[in-house]
Amino acid sequence: MTARMSGPFRFGDRVQLTGPKARLHTITLREGGELHTHHGVLRHGDLVGLPDGSVVANSSGREYLALRPLLRDFVMSMPRGAAIVYPKDAAQILAQADVFPGATVVEAGVGSGALSLWLLRAVGAEGRLVSFERREDFAAVARANVETFVGDVPANWEVVVGDLAEDLAHAVPAASVDRVVLDMLAPWECIDAVADALTPGGVVVCYVATATQLSRVAEYIRGTGLFTEPDANETMVRGWHVEGLAVRPDHRMVAHTGFLVWARRLAPGAVPPEVKRRASKTSFSDEDVELWTPGAVGDRQITDKNLRKRVREAERAAEGARQAAETVEDGPAVPGSEAPASRPSSDSA
Ligand SMILES: C[S@@+](CC[C@H](N)C(=O)[O-])C[C@H]1O[C@@H](n2cnc3c(N)ncnc32)[C@H](O)[C@@H]1O
Repeated sequence: MTARMSGPFRFGDRVQLTGPKARLHTITLREGGELHTHHGVLRHGDLVGLPDGSVVANSSGREYLALRPLLRDFVMSMPRGAAIVYPKDAAQILAQADVFPGATVVEAGVGSGALSLWLLRAVGAEGRLVSFERREDFAAVARANVETFVGDVPANWEVVVGDLAEDLAHAVPAASVDRVVLDMLAPWECIDAVADALTPGGVVVCYVATATQLSRVAEYIRGTGLFTEPDANETMVRGWHVEGLAVRPDHRMVAHTGFLVWARRLAPGAVPPEVKRRASKTSFSDEDVELWTPGAVGDRQITDKNLRKRVREAERAAEGARQAAETVEDGPAVPGSEAPASRPSSDSA
């Protein structure tokens, strides 16, 4: 039975209950089911028929707000085999990969199935998702998570236990895949297989955690000559505290998750018109050096005349300091300017 995302609660639905002190319980409504806490018993049946967003009381009158978990709530709390793609990155992946209803999408690795859930939603019932995972145990976690959230294992989702680089060609015909998303340690090892599977104009998006992976996969994509120039970005989301006059950014945030690199498959034999680019930063020209000089980056350049003036000022200041030092060594020049004979009593103890 496919889970419903709206409408009155019914048996089989997952429900998030928020009690006093924001304590959260997530339950699946079952006939005869009960939630037991130190503060009483809540019968599942009492929720059935109520609209989403209702407040229910348990046997001792303690109240709970009942809401169906959103996908972003579910992925953050579901069991994990491997690290998941966070909702902020999943949203960017869907946008940069341009995942559309009806698309044929390939992803690897499945990990815990978080990204699979977003992709399944985006391709819709008319689309198809083929997910590769090297580890059978992770694939099992992902299958269970998808089934829990969706209500069954979707007919348009295939999980292949194996290495994408070796098995992609057996799983899909050449040039038949609209979009590929790679979330793994070494995506460059899969780019050749991905180039064969992608349809002309298709998009590959890689999600990587470190700058060294980002560089390596971008250079690999560029080196094949089979894709458009790779683009890259990262997404930082800063929450805000909005309460009365206290309207400000949150003090804490998730500062780093990963980077995205994406490119499009060229048609066979296509050589794009050459784009004039600056010399690569692995070598550099006089123009590059100029770009990094203070003038080019916005610092005011001092004129020679001004500089000579500053030198004279500095030398005068140094001369003054030298004379002051000599005066102290020779004894006071001005009567009454002697240092005190003893330190103040509070210091001399
Ligand atoms: C970070 S996890 C993926 C998390 C997943 N996207 C999610 O949102 O839950 C990376 C996974 O890729 C798998 N993996 C790494 N290289 C692979 C490959 N070449 N083919 C298939 N799976 C691979 C690993 O076993 C691991 O489970």
